[in-house]
Amino acid sequence: MQPKTYLADEAEREIARNDLDRSLAVEAGAGTGKTTLLVDRILSLLRERRAALDEIVAITFTEKAAGELKVRLREAIEKALLLSPPEEAESLGQALGELERAPISTIHSFCSGLLRERPVEASLDPNFEPLDEMGMDLLFQEVWDQWLGREMEKKPAVLRRALALGMEMEPLSRLVRQIYENRDLLPQGPLPQPFYSPERFMEILEEEVQRAWDLAQSDCRKEEDLGYQAILGLRAKLKDLKEASPERQEVILFRDLEMKAQGNKSNWKPAASCDAQKQILKKLARELETLKDALRAQVMAGLVGWVQGFVAAMEEEKARRGVLDFQDLLIFSRNLLRDNQEVREYFQKIFRYILVDEFQDTDPLQAREALPGGRSQAVHLPVPAGGHRNL
Ligand SMILES: Nc1ncnc2c1ncn2[C@@H]1O[C@H](COP(=O)(O)OP(=O)(O)OP(=O)(O)O)[C@@H](O)[C@H]1O
Ligand SMILES: [Mg+2]
Repeated sequence: MQPKTYLADEAEREIARNDLDRSLAVEAGAGTGKTTLLVDRILSLLRERRAALDEIVAITFTEKAAGELKVRLREAIEKALLLSPPEEAESLGQALGELERAPISTIHSFCSGLLRERPVEASLDPNFEPLDEMGMDLLFQEVWDQWLGREMEKKPAVLRRALALGMEMEPLSRLVRQIYENRDLLPQGPLPQPFYSPERFMEILEEEVQRAWDLAQSDCRKEEDLGYQAILGLRAKLKDLKEASPERQEVILFRDLEMKAQGNKSNWKPAASCDAQKQILKKLARELETLKDALRAQVMAGLVGWVQGFVAAMEEEKARRGVLDFQDLLIFSRNLLRDNQEVREYFQKIFRYILVDEFQDTDPLQAREALPGGRSQAVHLPVPAGGHRNL
């Protein structure tokens, strides 16, 4: 006979399976048995007649996983039925009959079902069509191309600035997609902007370049020295900067200006002057990085504001076509359940337990708000050794 092995966390597993009065979150690595526990917990709920299967919501990450979960659940129920006393067998048998209709699905399908049931209260066209991934890609591309085309003609300052600083179309479109997908998190007002003063930087640059130049003139013995050349180069850039328009200044600062501490001690006398000029260049490099970070943040804040126009264009087009994308399903469900007490209570009665496999804790909308506020039961955060993972 094989010896029975006990897992070190068996006590915790037991709680996850059978302690039905508490809401739990289970955090464990890949392949450690999270989905098995979720299936076992559903079995416990059925056995104890806490709920019928159609009152237990199980959320999975993909449609495929929902199908697999149903298969696992069927196997588990069938196995349990063989050994069950008659009082449990009845509810398990009933669950088998309900399995195909059970609310085991992705969060998007689940939300779609909620909205389908109460479209009026959700302020939706009852015939709304959920967009799949491909439909969403096509719609995004179409609206983006049209909107960007119009914007290119208007040439708003924020776009001109981003392009001048080297932003390319491909990353810009990816960024816009990301902003669009997180539109429920967009701030109402403008984003805070860090202190950004090219004037102050140029004052420092002028002072420090002068100091380095003085050193170079008095103590550098070889004009070919890389340090000497770097200082010369900086003097020329400084001259360009001072003569440039503010827009051109930004481009020089962000793209052209290079600070590299260089120079060979043997070309300097005293040799310590070589180190001294390197220190100056290093200090300037740090100042430049700080300035660039601030500029990046400013451009980003400007882009986020600008993209709100695109978000509005998307909303308009989706409303015209009567479609909802994945995020809409979550946003409309969240709003419906948050704002309408009657509807919230209605769904709380229908869905008594909620179990989530592969909990998406990076999406605050999924993490907190889109579920009907029933009893959230088992929340699974797979964490492999070495860090968080959210798939
Ligand atoms: N307590 C246990 N003792 C032994 N084997 C187990 C136990 N629980 C689960 N298993 C087995 O471990 C394997 C993985 O289980 P399961 O799919 O439940 O893990 P998971 O944590 O959900 O995995 P994933 O991270 O891939 O979603 C399965 O073959 C399952 O039968
Ligand atoms: Mg799993």
